[in-house]
Amino acid sequence: AIGDDVKSRIDCEPGWDKDHGDCVARGCIEAHADTTIRNVPSCYYPKQTGYLASNLSFNGAADEGIRLTKDPDSVKSPYGDDIKELFFKVDNIGAVSHVTITAANEQRWRPLVKLNEDAPIEASESLKVQSYFDGVWYFVITRASTGAVILDSSIGGLLFADQFIQFGAYLGTDVIYGFGENLHGKLRRDLTNYMTYAMFAHSRHPDSTRPDNGHNLMGVHNFFIGIEPDGKAHGVFFFNSNPQEIVLGPAPSIVYRTIGGQLEWFIFPGPSVEDVIRQYTLLVGKPLLPPYWALGYQLSRYGYKGTSDIADTVNRMRAAGIPQDVQYSDIDYMDGGRDFTYDPNNFAGFPELLDTLHSNFSMHAILIFDPAITIDHVVAERAISQDVSFLSWPRQDLAPTDVQQAYPIIKDKPYMVGRVWPAVPVIWPDFLDPLNKTQSWWTTEFVNFRKTLPFDGAWIDMNEPAAHSTGSRPGNAKAYEMRCPITGDDAKWDAPPYETSSVFLAGSGSRLYADSVCMCGRTVRNSTNLYNTRDLYGLSETIATKAAMEAATGKRAIVVSRSTYASSGHHGGHWLGDNTSRWGDLYDAIIGVLEFNFFGVPYVGSDICGFGSTATEELCLRWHQLGAFHSFSRNHNNKGSPNQDPAQWPTVAAAARKANLFRYRHLPFLYSLHFNASLYGGSVIRPMVSEYPLDKYAQNVSTQFFWGRSLLVAPVITEGATTVSPYLPSRDVWYSLYDYYYGSDVSSLTTFAAPWTSLIPVFLRGGHILPRQAPALTTILARRNRFELVIGVGLNDTADGDLFWDAGDDIITDMATHEYHRLKYHWLTDATGGRLVISQTRKTLVRAKSLCLLSYYVLLIDYTHILIRCVRLPPTHISPAKFLEKARSTFVSWIYFL
Ligand code: NOJ
Repeated sequence: AIGDDVKSRIDCEPGWDKDHGDCVARGCIEAHADTTIRNVPSCYYPKQTGYLASNLSFNGAADEGIRLTKDPDSVKSPYGDDIKELFFKVDNIGAVSHVTITAANEQRWRPLVKLNEDAPIEASESLKVQSYFDGVWYFVITRASTGAVILDSSIGGLLFADQFIQFGAYLGTDVIYGFGENLHGKLRRDLTNYMTYAMFAHSRHPDSTRPDNGHNLMGVHNFFIGIEPDGKAHGVFFFNSNPQEIVLGPAPSIVYRTIGGQLEWFIFPGPSVEDVIRQYTLLVGKPLLPPYWALGYQLSRYGYKGTSDIADTVNRMRAAGIPQDVQYSDIDYMDGGRDFTYDPNNFAGFPELLDTLHSNFSMHAILIFDPAITIDHVVAERAISQDVSFLSWPRQDLAPTDVQQAYPIIKDKPYMVGRVWPAVPVIWPDFLDPLNKTQSWWTTEFVNFRKTLPFDGAWIDMNEPAAHSTGSRPGNAKAYEMRCPITGDDAKWDAPPYETSSVFLAGSGSRLYADSVCMCGRTVRNSTNLYNTRDLYGLSETIATKAAMEAATGKRAIVVSRSTYASSGHHGGHWLGDNTSRWGDLYDAIIGVLEFNFFGVPYVGSDICGFGSTATEELCLRWHQLGAFHSFSRNHNNKGSPNQDPAQWPTVAAAARKANLFRYRHLPFLYSLHFNASLYGGSVIRPMVSEYPLDKYAQNVSTQFFWGRSLLVAPVITEGATTVSPYLPSRDVWYSLYDYYYGSDVSSLTTFAAPWTSLIPVFLRGGHILPRQAPALTTILARRNRFELVIGVGLNDTADGDLFWDAGDDIITDMATHEYHRLKYHWLTDATGGRLVISQTRKTLVRAKSLCLLSYYVLLIDYTHILIRCVRLPPTHISPAKFLEKARSTFVSWIYFL
């Protein structure tokens, strides 16, 4: 193992924890801080902090583990309650290694998340887990084929106490990506400076002016991808839903700390980055396929004044000719902020407006829903009478009597009561209710409310869960303040001995429950508490809301959630939270989108033009040009900020129109990428390193990204810039798509013009075929248009692509039985010019009407800039035989339609 030096210390006295005795008294080593390495610990654990082992090998039996005993001579947990006997276990899920260290004699908390642990996950490579003893026990995970190290715990520091668990490991590489949700400046992780990142769901705004402050944001994804020296990739998922933190050290190393549950990892062998993501999503759940319309452009703001304000906005968009599929309303539509109501005054006529959007404009509507329910309303009455589960106090006497007196509906109920937006107090449904009563009630409310207001999608917010009344007494909210127990016997959850950097970073006096509900809050029908499950609140609400929306609409649902956890992408999408109208926030959006693709949540985007503050014309224009390449493409704005819909400025309107038309033209391709990820697992939008893992330059690119493997987008990210100098690796040939409609080989160019009036540079990578379709103002209309293929011939004279196509909005219960078409395209340049082979995998005949209108507009490009031929086939449904005949006579000599 690597030697103990200044680069491999595990902090014995994290900066925020000076009150647990001095360094030496704790059994740790004191040293001078090395000023060349930022945050280097000056008090650190001896390497031999850990456990002794009963034996070292597993003797082959899968369920056999190794018993570990706390080394009596080694340092103790500074917070007491060391667990003396542990159990180390390795089992394989196909090629994925599953490693657990847990208490030998008690059941520890494990996140309530359904993982696909029963179906083996295949890979072309495998991993090896070996156990060693060197004063203390440790283990090493390597790649079987090369011996490359993935995790090596000989760095020491293993502690396992009831409310403090620490595990350290050397990493075999410093080329690391992932870990969320937080900001950190660059896509590639910086391991040079012992940065600590909190991991605990929190309603916190991303702040691009402090890109590396270690704050956790709304969701938790403890998953990273490493690139080994030979370019092979692995992934590591740490499965824990208690408050956690990680420290990234220069050795390179990682320290995991959590204050509950157990140590449990899944390690994925790749060997490509995309393989890792595919394997990860096979475990946590493959990404859902959004309805086709949800890939259209969406417009929102907080602070619409009422129905006519929204109608004016839509009309402005249409007058400017800007494609738009979805119009939103934020909480403004609600009656006093109450779910399942609408304001009868300002929003009179809202149902009729939504009908008009549907029938006259082929548009859709998404509305916001908050989880907290006001206790002055019939919705709460219905829930309570149906025995819905709500987050509750562990003991009735902790429930404040003043609120109970004011609201008899909750009399004698142990519900936690707090404040969010409404002026009246609220209670929080527990979506982890094992009796499903929360689900039935939530579904019924959606079904009934939708009979009043015909909305199509749900945007779920404030689900960390966020509360405005915890730990403070704001004005008239006094009566509803939630007083979490931080002294005496009840304090274990809300004032644990080690509170993690989540608390420390938030400033003095902060607590884990800040901006949320008390950690002692009971969930899962009183079987556990938020100390264990808070990270899962957003995920569980997403699952419940997707089911409710499908019941309400009878159509494929889309739910966009603020808080997410591993597996959220299987049920819904995500937006990157309350960003601000600043250039740094535009840049962070690129990284955020890429990371959520790592996390299996590819339906993701940032608030275009920025949420907080005032967007300038230039920023809003550039953000529309970038946002046209987010899967979730939505402009959203804060209450009080001036309007920033693109029609506010003629320049932005023109740029948004152009960018959105380009997007809509390529939606068959984007949809196919989502389709592929839903069927087989994997990502949609990818960084350069996914495609060029050995390229040192590509490893560090944070400013451009791919749709799939073939469409490279190079956005403008700085104020005043009118050119972009993208990195186009010379191993490939590149065709510019942005202002040269027919494409041309641009591989030798380095700088591309990006005036306000054109698109940002977009390139087709040689070797790929893009299916596309003439655009329209909405996806419903665009789906009726002719199809085209853009063939970017690669250096080896071939090109490939595929198109997935289905009804677009039917409910999918299982991708394996879903009805769809798949067309595969293969181009080969040969002496006769070339030939295109189209093969069709027809799962079942799709009855979607739009498919019968499918026609091919074939556009061929080779790398000598020459447009070879262009053929339009009749816009009617034609039989394969007819197609072949027609194609043979009018097109290149060989087309196979199989
Ligand atoms: C917070 C959300 O993050 C934001 O998008 C929304 O506009 C406000 N809540 C109001 O609902």
